[in-house]
Amino acid sequence: MMRRIAVIEGDGVGKEVIPAGVSVLTATGVPLEFEPLPWGCDHHQRTGRMMPVDGLSTLAGFDAIYLGAVGWPSVPDDVSLWGLLLPIRKHFHQDVNVRPVRLLPGIRSPLAGRTAAQVDMLFVRENTEGEYSGAGGRVHQGTAHEAAVEVPVFTRRAIERTARFAYGRAGERRRHLINVTKSNASRHAYPFWDEVVEGLATDYPTVRVERVLVDAMAARMVSHPDSIDVAVGSNLFADILTDLGAAIQGGMGLAASANLCLDGDWPSLFEPVHGSAPDIAGKGRANPIGAILAGALMLRALGEDAAGTLVEAAVAEVTLGGQALTADLGGSASTTEVGDAVAAAVRRRRTAGPVAAG
Ligand code: NAI
Ligand code: MG
Repeated sequence: MMRRIAVIEGDGVGKEVIPAGVSVLTATGVPLEFEPLPWGCDHHQRTGRMMPVDGLSTLAGFDAIYLGAVGWPSVPDDVSLWGLLLPIRKHFHQDVNVRPVRLLPGIRSPLAGRTAAQVDMLFVRENTEGEYSGAGGRVHQGTAHEAAVEVPVFTRRAIERTARFAYGRAGERRRHLINVTKSNASRHAYPFWDEVVEGLATDYPTVRVERVLVDAMAARMVSHPDSIDVAVGSNLFADILTDLGAAIQGGMGLAASANLCLDGDWPSLFEPVHGSAPDIAGKGRANPIGAILAGALMLRALGEDAAGTLVEAAVAEVTLGGQALTADLGGSASTTEVGDAVAAAVRRRRTAGPVAAG
């Protein structure tokens, strides 16, 4: 069955890593039809909008969205984020953001002595509310007593969906779920968060749930990453922790993310965790692995698990080989060369025939 994928390269290195990802996805032979949508900060320069007025209804017709990065110095970051990515996440009920933190073979983590087997964490992030709800305002603007309030919003529905998803993943993995919270300092929101997350534990008797405060979690990710299986956190906490996770994995260029509409009523969105990287954009130096692994998450979400595994294995083959690595990983290959190397590995593995499962 042909799947239609909306491709929003977006800004900066998004325009470099997404073509590499598309070439790898094409190499899998899974029938995908890619439709480029030239939205982002250039579109904003031309039209005053990050995407057309009917952008969301255009996207609604696709099976998935594959996105590079949004944001460029020409447009204030809150305008670019609220003009494209956040409306997509909210409107399409992409309640959950999934971010694997896995150290690939051949990649050196900045954590001394850690090997691939010791770093395999999965972060599940509430994706539509918390500190990102947009509730609040500013008063006395331009005066000496100007003030701002930003009100985090937590609903039982969103916490519950996020937590159930996380329990489910934990059940398939090492059966340990960390509830990332700050219910010691927060009087209302995080105690409620804990109640909802931990209240579901009885529905998942095989999963051990552990409460960890977000600050301690940051330390634990560095000291004992091997003690972390699945972690569930609010929008803001998991955002911050997954950048730490990306660094532990070997850099921003390696991390992938899936924004999932769990009901399947709307398309889900798959993207590398990194932004538009204006400092290296346009030079062909960006690492496409995060984008490629986001493509693998997309294949899995489309039910193409074998193809997802194939892409992940091809990436691991390339990182282990060490010949085609970008500058952030100490190599000298270009974005395109890494994409080509992974695509070639995918094709080689396909001709070698299906590998018998476990
Ligand atoms: P960034 O992720 O773009 O860059 C942070 C650092 O990581 C830079 O030193 C950059 O060179 C490096 N880096 C990022 N991607 C890389 C790659 N593929 N290969 C090698 N190195 C890579 O974050 P920053 O600088 O905070 O934000 C730049 C712009 O991107 C801003 O406008 C921001 O709003 C936007 N942004 C967009 C995101 C999205 O679309 N989901 C996420 C994060 C930032
Ligand atoms: Mg972030």
